[in-house]
Amino acid sequence: MTPWPYPRWIAHRGAGKLAPENTLAAFRLGASHGYRMFECDVKLSSDGVPFLLHDDTLSRTTNAPDSLGTDNNATAGQHAWGALAQLDAGSWHSPGFAGEPLPTLEAIARYCLRNALFLNIEIKPTPGLARQTGEVVANHAAKLWQGASVPPLLSSFEVAALEAAMTAQPDLPRGLLLDSLWSGWLETAQKLDCIAIICDHVLWDPTSLGQARQAGFKTLSYTVNDEATAQRLFDLGLDGLITDRVDLFTPVSACA
Ligand code: G3P
Ligand code: MG
Repeated sequence: MTPWPYPRWIAHRGAGKLAPENTLAAFRLGASHGYRMFECDVKLSSDGVPFLLHDDTLSRTTNAPDSLGTDNNATAGQHAWGALAQLDAGSWHSPGFAGEPLPTLEAIARYCLRNALFLNIEIKPTPGLARQTGEVVANHAAKLWQGASVPPLLSSFEVAALEAAMTAQPDLPRGLLLDSLWSGWLETAQKLDCIAIICDHVLWDPTSLGQARQAGFKTLSYTVNDEATAQRLFDLGLDGLITDRVDLFTPVSACA
């Protein structure tokens, strides 16, 4: 198994809720709180550019209805990158972030690499595009991190996306995301040759953790936002926690 090179604390969507999620501004804020690793959600534009966005649609976190002339349910992945790049992905959060753009994966990769930061890329496909998204994101990531000492960790709830990522770039580390312990989760993670299982924190208990660890997986959890939950998980022996609360939890060393 690949040695685990990642810190214990991972900032969710850059800086949780303190900045507009999945923007470079969020990454900068998370880094200012001492975070060395970040989680972000990545999908494809209609012309195949990987970019950061959590939702299927643009309405919650951009000004898309105005600038694209589309309705509030506009699917993000139906637009070309040239149009998406014009959007304001900061004003919805607060006036100080007005004009913050949607970032490409490439822009985030360059920021992380230049600042020696680690990245967890959650492959978050537009519905119906799991395989394509997994393949394209993995290929971009392999190119962007070529020669880097630590590759990004690719993760997804979508098995098809991880399968495609594995086929395209087998050497990039993968993590299976779980929001329930569905039948066959452990075998699926093994088939996908994952190095980590990343669960909703309520799913980790001595039984599930024992199963995952016995099978050789690193164990991570999302989204951990209070001290009692963090303590419970570290007492259990979790390897990493994804948090919104970059203002509450302070990583204490480079590998914290
Ligand atoms: O990658 C962990 C976490 O981000 C998964 O949930 O919905 O916040 O992307 P979500
Ligand atoms: Mg995510």
